[in-house]
This record gives sequence, structure tokens and C-alpha cells, in this order.
Amino acid sequence: MKIQAVKGTRDFYPEEMALRNWIVDGWKRVSVRNGFAEFDGPIFEYLQMYQVKSGDEIVEQLFSFEDRGERKLAIRPEITPTLARMVNQRINSLPRPIKWFSVPRLCRAERPQKGRLREFFQWNIDTIGVDDVYADAEVIFTTIDYLQETGLTAKDIQAKISSRRLLKALFEAAGFVDDELPALYLLLDKKSKLPAETFNEMLEEKVADPARRKIVAQIMGVKELNEVSRLMKLPEEASAAMAELEELFALLEVMGISDYCKFDIGIVRGLAYYTGIVFEVHDIKGELRAVCGGGRYDNLLKDFGGPAVPATGMGMGDCVLEILLRERGLIDESLAARRLDYFVAVLDEALRKDAIALTARLRRKGMRVEMSYKGGGLGKQLKAASDIGASTCVIMGREYIEERKVAVKDMATGVQKLVGTEELLVMP
Ligand code: HAM
Repeated sequence: MKIQAVKGTRDFYPEEMALRNWIVDGWKRVSVRNGFAEFDGPIFEYLQMYQVKSGDEIVEQLFSFEDRGERKLAIRPEITPTLARMVNQRINSLPRPIKWFSVPRLCRAERPQKGRLREFFQWNIDTIGVDDVYADAEVIFTTIDYLQETGLTAKDIQAKISSRRLLKALFEAAGFVDDELPALYLLLDKKSKLPAETFNEMLEEKVADPARRKIVAQIMGVKELNEVSRLMKLPEEASAAMAELEELFALLEVMGISDYCKFDIGIVRGLAYYTGIVFEVHDIKGELRAVCGGGRYDNLLKDFGGPAVPATGMGMGDCVLEILLRERGLIDESLAARRLDYFVAVLDEALRKDAIALTARLRRKGMRVEMSYKGGGLGKQLKAASDIGASTCVIMGREYIEERKVAVKDMATGVQKLVGTEELLVMP
């Protein structure tokens, strides 16, 4: 029986693993320099945890199962609920603000497509305990900080920013009630991914009244922040949400990333728990799915039985990022190349044990060392050394037997010199 990998999963051969590690190392480095500390949680949780507040879309995509104790469990499709649960558990002892990051492996039973798989890695940064809009600005800054570091510029990507608080205030002013909003958000989140006709049909299904559909279209048709006030006489809550967005854009300007950021009322986000500023980073050409997404979720900790503590954060998967980096030629193709300090070769098979001993001693000193398993002529061994990426070859021959000296050969220049083994062990 030929067994294959499950659709939507990936095998990480050393080459792919090198790339994954490079991406993850960058996420971690940028998190730390922006003041976030790493955390992790279990890969499965009680199913109920995702049914409470993540929204219908995530629930449909859950890999869920029952354990032998008939507990209903699910593999994590995101880590934000775990984060909320963990913070709630220690809410009184954790120093605030809580700035945490994580790189969980996640599973969603989505239809595999370009940039969306069923198993992926997702960088998360979250700040808990700060309601100041500076925390939202910092999350966006950290996101762009990473993307900039990979070599992506404002010509490649853009952070599109909106506010659930503003949308809620506008929709309520237009006559929608709270209960209707989650389904409307979910549909609006899909707008750019659906053909216009399909979207209109679905909107008709959700919103029967043509007058209300018209106002939805008008709201979603807004192009600039200053056009919002032309829609209607703004209710107080909408004005407050506008002021918050204006403050956010002023901060992004001060942080030096305003050329990466743009207001876009079409950014609604699919997850149910967002309450304030929301954003997604997209490729400029709009050809790919979102690179990342996040926003403020001030009620999630309370909804999970904790106190009302504000929170804001973002999640970035590795799939679209990789496609984008590859398209822009920003992946170093030699990432996977093995880099060796020394390759130990022998001129005489009788020295094999000495070569094994020297290899072991060099490795214990922290050097990356290989030697031939097969032996054979020096030519063969030198070829093996260069195939494997050794910068220097250590050749043991007659001089070793006579005076414990080895020939150290620079593989690039071919220059060779005799060095005592003890000296070699302390060479920088
Ligand atoms: P999300 O929009 O569901 O948000 O996912 C965020 C990012 O994860 C996406 O933009 C994408 O990069 C990646 N992603 C999502 N699904 C897949 C998939 N099937 N395959 C590959 N990549 C995927 C969240 O998950 C929120 N919990 C983020 C957050 C953290 N909000 C606040 N804090």
C-alpha cells in the first residue's frame, strides 16, 4: 500500500525546513526587539473554546474529535483563544501590559488553495491590558518591521486598516441590530474574494430590505477616511471611532511606516471577536490572499470568564509570505546549503580511527565537522568535502604519523599548510 501525505499538509525536507527556520527565526527576532515574550499552549483544546467566540467560519473548519473519555476536543485553528484562556488563568499575577508572541502550528480544514493549507505555522503577537491606540499602532509597526526586514517594500505590500467599532456604529445608525452584525461581517469579509454577482445574491439573502442594502453599499464604497462623515450625520460612537483611526494614522506616521498603511473600509475580518481597529496586510497587486490579519478584541477575555481586559494583536501565516518572498526573489536559495568548518580526509585507511578521534574532538570544540564514511582515494574524499559544503579540508597522512601534523587545505583557494593537531583544536 502506497501511503501519501494528506492533502493540504506539507513535508519539510531539510531544504524546506531551512526556509521554515529562517522565517520563524525572523519572526522571533523581530518579536523580541519589539518587546514581546514567547509563549505556547497545547495543540488541542476543548472544542467548546472555539465555538464560543471565534465565529462560524472557524467552527466549520475545525478538526475535532472525541477522546476515549468522550471529551469533545479540537486541534487549534488559531492561538488567540488559548492566549485568552492562559492570561485569564493568571490575570492577577501577570505584570501588565502583557506582550506575548507565539509561533504555533495550526490546523484548519479549509479547501487547500494558493496560500491556504490545512496545516500551517502562524506568527502571533498580542498586547493585553492596554486600551491606548498606541498598542494597535505597535502591533502594526512590529508586523511591518518584520516584512521590511525580509526585503519587502511599500511597493510590494500594504497594511489596510479599518475599524469594527466604526462599522458597528455606522451599521447601527443604518438600522441594523447587534445580532445581525456577525453574519454581515462574515459576508463583507468575503466580498473581495467573491464575484460581484455572488456577493450581491448573498447580501440579498442576509439583508432583505433594499434600502438597507443600499446603505451597506454606500458604507462599503467609502474610499477615504474623510468621506465617512459625508455618509450620514455621524453618531457619537462613530465620531469616537473616527478620532481613534485618525490618532492611529498619526502614530503610524511618527513611527515612519505611513507609506505602508492605508485606510480601507473593506477590511472587516472574518473572526467574530474583533471590536475595534482591524487590519490586514495584502500584496499590492491584490493577487494573493491576506499575508496577515489582526485587530483589537476587547471582550474576548471577559467572554472566556475573565475580567474585562482590552487586547490587540495579529496573526501571520507562513504560506502567503513564502509565495510573496519567492515571487520577489527575496529568498536566499543557499539557505539549505550545509556549511561545514572542516572535512577530515585520510591518505591511509590505517588512519581511519585517528580521523574519527580528531573529528570527535573538533566537534566537541563546537566546530561543524564531517568525514568520509567510505574512505577511498584523496580525490574522492575532496570531492565529497566540496559537495557537502566544507570550507576547509583537514588531511591526515604521513606527517600525522610522524609528527602529529595535518595538512589544512582551503577549499576555495587550494592553499594548504601543515598545522599541529593541538594547534588546530584551538584555531579560531
Ligand atoms: P486569521 O485572519 O484567521 O486571524 O489568520 C491570520 C493569518 O493566518 C492569515 O492572514 C494567514 O496569513 C494565516 N492563515 C489563516 N488560515 C490559513 C490557512 N488555512 N493556511 C495558511 N495560512 C493561513 C487569526 O488567526 C487571528 N487569531 C489573528 C489574531 C491574533 N488576531 C489577534 N491576535
